[in-house]
Amino acid sequence: MKELTVRVSRFDPDTEREPRFETYTVNVNDGARVLNVLHAIHDELDPTLSYRYSCASGQCGSCAVRVNGEPVLACMEEARDGITIQPLNLAVKKDLVTDLIPRLEQIASLMPKKETILPKKADIDAIKPLKDCIECLACVSVCPAVDVTKFLGPTAMRQEMRLVLDPRDSGDRITDAVRDGLFTCTTCQACWKVCPKKIEIPGKAIEKLRAHANKRGLTLPRHKEVAALVQETGRSIPRTSESFLEKVSDVIEPYGPVKATVGFFIGCMYNLRQQQSALDAMEVLQRNGIRVIIPKEQVCCGSPLIRTGQLSYVDTLKQRNIETFRSRGIDTVLTMCAGCGTTLKKDYTTPFKVIDINELLTQYGIEPPARLRVKATYHDPCHLMRGQGIRDQPRELIRQVVDLVEMPSICCGSGGGVRAGNPDEAAALGRRRGEEIRKTGAEIVITSCPFCEFHIMGHTDKPVKNIATVLLEGYREKDRKKVAGLKD
Ligand code: FES
Repeated sequence: MKELTVRVSRFDPDTEREPRFETYTVNVNDGARVLNVLHAIHDELDPTLSYRYSCASGQCGSCAVRVNGEPVLACMEEARDGITIQPLNLAVKKDLVTDLIPRLEQIASLMPKKETILPKKADIDAIKPLKDCIECLACVSVCPAVDVTKFLGPTAMRQEMRLVLDPRDSGDRITDAVRDGLFTCTTCQACWKVCPKKIEIPGKAIEKLRAHANKRGLTLPRHKEVAALVQETGRSIPRTSESFLEKVSDVIEPYGPVKATVGFFIGCMYNLRQQQSALDAMEVLQRNGIRVIIPKEQVCCGSPLIRTGQLSYVDTLKQRNIETFRSRGIDTVLTMCAGCGTTLKKDYTTPFKVIDINELLTQYGIEPPARLRVKATYHDPCHLMRGQGIRDQPRELIRQVVDLVEMPSICCGSGGGVRAGNPDEAAALGRRRGEEIRKTGAEIVITSCPFCEFHIMGHTDKPVKNIATVLLEGYREKDRKKVAGLKD
């Protein structure tokens, strides 16, 4: 047995204005789940506590709650001392019980065709990655688009795609999905990271539905314009001045001994819009012994097309980029755009390794910069944190230069083609990001993705800086102190 003290959110909307926390101490068996703790509270301390469960074995989805802010199944999550238990971020009926009915009613059902058509093995195999949903609605509870639009949510889209693949269904699922907010998904990947069944909804449903929509001519006009620009210029951003690739030499040698050699994949945003961040990164790499080869024939990675379901030109881009780096014998390609990095790692099959700049710098270690007297907060780019699993490395780098104050990891609203296709939604999510930044009291915002950098700038009065820029500022301060004969 072990003694655990937990905080539980209590709320009766009929009699109270807002939720409050109660603290309970219970004795439970070793290895007890959160559900066992709730049973103990209910049975021994407070029979008025409301919570929901049925199977107690991870099959029915009814027990989903948030533990320390993260959606989990109470019956599967190990109970630990000091945890906070809250309802999912949905309308609360009482305590930990949320109102699932309105959302469950929005999930489409199969509409049988008149003739009897049975799915073949190939159909069943295609449906498999989408069929295991237990309707816990954890995905809906973390979806940023649901919060600011009429989007029906991730699992409704999952079901639309499942029905597209089912030969027995007679519904027009593509039209339905577009009507129900298909293009409002920012592909932030929050949904499938909390899914107890790990159903990869952005890749297996949203992007697939968008590709079907594209074949039906339902792609958003702004997305079509971006695709046309990529086909015409090889870039998803219009050229307004000299590009990064035109400014820099083919090889950038480090100042000291060479620790590693990498090929650099720049990406459209850093090449044409956020160039200074990339130039700063080159200086940081020079300072840290990284030799950088920059092939000039590289083109857009294809992410803006893949995320919006416009796939016809993607293989051409992939082949050109792969050949560009392969022909130079490059075995490691460096990215600093979170979206490009995720695309190269997940959507390409490459003969080289792909590494993000935060991974590279922490792997080889960096020369210590001077500390700057600045309080900073860090925005996790969705395609870095959830797309590539890179959460700790940026923080490790940032803490060497400035004081870091954390804020919730939420989508800024710029991804998945939303900034171009649904600017009002992107602005609403940007404002939400801006408000969280304000609450931290930080003087600057640091991030590691050009899309986030550019979008957040429009929604905060604080300077938004790339990690590379902040590291470089630390090095410049170090140099200044050295010249002035001052200590770090
Ligand atoms: Fe059924 Fe937890 S009680 S999934």
